[in-house]
Amino acid sequence: MAILDICRLGDPILRQKAEHVPKVSQKIKDLLVDLADTMYAAPGVGLAAPQIGVRKRVIVIDVGEGLLELVNPVLVSQTGSETATEGCLSIPGIIGDVDRATEVVVRGLNNKGRKVEITASGFLARALQHELDHLEGVLFIDKATNIREAPKEENGSEKEEG
Ligand code: NI
Repeated sequence: MAILDICRLGDPILRQKAEHVPKVSQKIKDLLVDLADTMYAAPGVGLAAPQIGVRKRVIVIDVGEGLLELVNPVLVSQTGSETATEGCLSIPGIIGDVDRATEVVVRGLNNKGRKVEITASGFLARALQHELDHLEGVLFIDKATNIREAPKEENGSEKEEG
């Protein structure tokens, strides 16, 4: 549908809590398409609705295993702990090391409004936690250690960002 501008650090919407979506309406389906188009164009591996200026609990993720579209995602369980480097499309050029659970279970609704449960580990689990944080107004720099400028080669692979 449309590639939209991604809100940058300093935009207050990135610090606001997103609203529960009462129904997966056509408007929400269109939002999911815009989110995916914008994420792929960036390119990134995840994007949350507040990052395109929409304060709703809607995220998309694609870590190379196919597009995941989630409405009202909720983290229902998490295990393990692992530190790895992250970036964010809303904070370009900056990376940091973030401790995240290694395995998570997330429940939500898909683009048809059906309940889905996703069990994820590794990079997908990390991406889910990063996008869920966006819905709470939390950014990776709030949790990261060793925040630094992304080296040139990592700048070139912005696929690691959500
Ligand atoms: Ni992000």
